[in-house]
Amino acid sequence: MTTASAPGKIILVGEHAVVYGRPAIAAPVWQVQARATVEETPNEACRIVAPQIGLNIRLADAAPNEPLALVARLALGKLGAASPPEWRIEARSDIPMASGLGSGAAISAAVARALFAHAGQELPVETLSQIVFASERIHHGRPSGIDNTVIAWETPIWFVKGEAPQPIRPGWPFTIVIADSGVPAPTRETVAHVRQGWEQDPARYEAWFDEMGEIAAKARSAMEAGQLRRLGRLFDKNQTLLERIGVSSPVLERLIDAARHNGALGAKLSGGGRGGNVIALVEPAIAPLVEEGFRSAGARRVITTTI
Ligand code: PMV
Repeated sequence: MTTASAPGKIILVGEHAVVYGRPAIAAPVWQVQARATVEETPNEACRIVAPQIGLNIRLADAAPNEPLALVARLALGKLGAASPPEWRIEARSDIPMASGLGSGAAISAAVARALFAHAGQELPVETLSQIVFASERIHHGRPSGIDNTVIAWETPIWFVKGEAPQPIRPGWPFTIVIADSGVPAPTRETVAHVRQGWEQDPARYEAWFDEMGEIAAKARSAMEAGQLRRLGRLFDKNQTLLERIGVSSPVLERLIDAARHNGALGAKLSGGGRGGNVIALVEPAIAPLVEEGFRSAGARRVITTTI
């Protein structure tokens, strides 16, 4: 049996604006992962199984828009398999779904990695990113590509749609506390909401996206220089703009306020918004206080990670 995994992710700054060509920064989150296994099942048709989403079908019977089946088909195609091999592919994830932690991209990446590993072939990071992007298009409609890219590269990245990502090397380890609001937040819906606003008032939205892009550039230099406080202020500014474009919510703002009151240097929603996760930048010693603050404010799950 062959096993492979992929991490979750957070967007540090620049979500939504990234769909409109502005830069964004994302980082892997190793505390949550998706895993996939491939095992030989002689004389049985290739099967793809994901118990958490009730998927258990023969690959040949899967609908064209079943994301994991698409990943398997693309990966097997690149491996040169003329017909599906007699393999059982199983995927699991401890990344909460529809929460902005990249669960869909991670599970796809784990499946592609497991298939290549089982075939004994190397999977170039670009190929992996492309395969995962194809499955993201089913989940999201028109994704920018940031999720598949950060999950394939497994390092903090500076991302501009259509360009090669640039790895970011933080000058200092940054501690981030992530809180799951427990409110499911389909990214497709928030992206559509932003598009509606942009269509009605393009000049205004473009100006906001420009500001978000400038925040991303400053955040990158703050990360590289190890400037904790400056990065925290940039999180706060980015949150204000995300509120303006209508992707925040009272539940998220309650969590963000709790983080700030407990000593976080900055806090914002992360990902599509409306629900899902918020992130807070903290001094390591303050992390337990912020974690507790998040829990008291109703967070379902709290994860502390280092970037
Ligand atoms: O997958 P999520 O919820 O982290 O959101 C992706 C980020 C967006 O910018 C909102 C959409 C995109 O395609 O980049």
